[in-house]
Amino acid sequence: MSLEILIKNEKVDIENHLFSYLDKLQIEKVLHEAMLYSLKAGGKRLRPFLAVAVAGLLGKEKSLVMPYACALEFIHTYSLIHDDLPALDNDDMRRGKPSNHKKFGETVAILAGDALNCDAFSILFEFGEGNFHKGGKYLAKASGGRGMVLGQIKDCTVPQNERTVDILDDINLFKTGALIVASTAGAAAWLDGSEEEIKALEEYGKNIGLAFQIADDILDVTSDSKTLGKPIGSDAQMNKTTYPALLGVTKAEERASSYADKAVEALDMFKDSSWKKALCELARYVVERKN
Ligand code: IPE
Ligand code: IPE
Ligand code: MG
Ligand code: MG
Ligand code: MG
Repeated sequence: MSLEILIKNEKVDIENHLFSYLDKLQIEKVLHEAMLYSLKAGGKRLRPFLAVAVAGLLGKEKSLVMPYACALEFIHTYSLIHDDLPALDNDDMRRGKPSNHKKFGETVAILAGDALNCDAFSILFEFGEGNFHKGGKYLAKASGGRGMVLGQIKDCTVPQNERTVDILDDINLFKTGALIVASTAGAAAWLDGSEEEIKALEEYGKNIGLAFQIADDILDVTSDSKTLGKPIGSDAQMNKTTYPALLGVTKAEERASSYADKAVEALDMFKDSSWKKALCELARYVVERKN
């Protein structure tokens, strides 16, 4: 099966679970509507797909990883709602629709984001049966002040004229990488994977995380808003120093590609399987994607 079809199939299952967990949480109407709006707006579902693929790679039941996979998408969706706020990137469009704050106003958007963040952990604790201690700890650390949020604060505070590619890598390792590592190594921790498996998946996740953000920066320059589902030129408008701004598009693509190669190497220790193949192909897809 091609990677595209695999992702498409898994997406259906992931989205069914995503909406069913949200329903089961029985959240108050206004919040529920705003949370559902952004969850439902679309998105590639890369992070939950990675978690599902890791379950396959480790030979574990998909149903075991589903709460963790959906918790990842809750946290990712919250991070996007907050990322689009006027105080951060001030973007009016997300996943092909008006951003959450454009639709519901800033107050509701901030609170819907807060709820998605905490209720990610409600999903784990109320519907999950994995290794709460290892997996829950991994996800919390990757999301908070030592993970994604640390990356966002660095991205908002490191002066643009001081940014080198190494500094960008450092920011992005947290901003984007942390949640992607939580989708690979964190999922393995949730599934009681061995320390060696977790370590290899950390290396894989870090490298596709970096490749993914380089591609995101490139698409902001080369794509169009219809394909991307979010505004283009947003980085330039915010005077952001990005990989294509520092290196040019071609060199930035080469850099992303070399991270994808390293990601594939990190999977060496796993025996061949269709899921390993999918994860190797995914490293390429992350670089070559159109949205
Ligand atoms: C966008 O993530 C934010 C970044 C970390 C670059 P995605 O490109 O995965 O967004 P969706 O989930 O597909 O909308
Ligand atoms: C945001 O990075 C990463 C998050 C933690 C949400 P960007 O600001 O580059 O993401 P986009 O381009 O708005 O999706
Ligand atoms: Mg941002
Ligand atoms: Mg943004
Ligand atoms: Mg971007």
